[in-house]
Amino acid sequence: MINIAIIGFGVVGSATYDVTIQNAELIKERIGDSVKVKKIVDVRDFDNHPAPELLTKNFDDVMNDPTISIVVESIGGLRPSYEFTKKALMGGKSVVTSNKELVATHGVELTEIAKQNKVSYLFEASVGGGIPIIRPLKQCLAANEFNEIFGILNGTTNYILTQMREEGRPFAEVLKDAQQKGYAELNPSADIDGYDTCRKICILSWVAFGKGVDAEKIDRKGISEITAKDIEKAKAAGCVIKLIGRAKLIDGEVYCTVAPEAIPLDDPLAIVDNVYNAIVVRGNFVSDVMFYGQGAGGRATASAVMSDVIEIARTIVASRT
Ligand code: HSE
Repeated sequence: MINIAIIGFGVVGSATYDVTIQNAELIKERIGDSVKVKKIVDVRDFDNHPAPELLTKNFDDVMNDPTISIVVESIGGLRPSYEFTKKALMGGKSVVTSNKELVATHGVELTEIAKQNKVSYLFEASVGGGIPIIRPLKQCLAANEFNEIFGILNGTTNYILTQMREEGRPFAEVLKDAQQKGYAELNPSADIDGYDTCRKICILSWVAFGKGVDAEKIDRKGISEITAKDIEKAKAAGCVIKLIGRAKLIDGEVYCTVAPEAIPLDDPLAIVDNVYNAIVVRGNFVSDVMFYGQGAGGRATASAVMSDVIEIARTIVASRT
């Protein structure tokens, strides 16, 4: 049995719990052992929690349980995620996260701490929701030199732009809808002002080019000033407006930008609508590869979280023999 803990039982944490229950048998078959959620940490009270017996408000209950080997951090934000992650890694527990802010800010340091403690810090779910992108960059495309990565990296803004264009719905109404669907960040300014896309392009740049960039310093423009008129103008010109994150390697330096762009209708990015994301990776041997899928929402993100849990669990199982 491989025991895990989930810290933060919001949209992603609760969907991660669901996948461990719903797909328990097939996950067991694929790993060769079962994965069981042993503790769920959240400071909130829940009326209808699916597993109240697992709930605790105290993270030390996880640290004091030596049978828990993997911690899923789905709290979001920097505090107390940073402290909890550091504590878990230093205590010999691997950590899996969907927290792009934490990975973009402290990912290099936390990965180093994981290495020193012979555990893993994995973050597939931090970019592109359910789209596999971190592992493909590190493994399947590892033979390539990358010179550019770009794409639609935020589901909320893509949903808003699509609904404004296709349905003529007002910005504020669609944003509310995205919040209800569990796509938007707690503070939706992170989505609409482009901060979330900055964090994701910063993580991609680190993974692809081996060079971290400061997400705060990225040249950034969000979609809050996009009007119905802008959308109409783009339409008349045979384009759609998309919020694009871009990282380019030029003479050994990484240049990142986040801004709305007019994308011609014959560009594959133009048909990426609603909560879907797409990421184009340019490699010197493979040429262009595009990854496409649902970029936000609990179930899609939980799929990516569990892929990291499964990767670590397989290593644990292999080390027993
Ligand atoms: N708020 C984010 C988005 C969630 O809309 O893309 C997934 O990272």
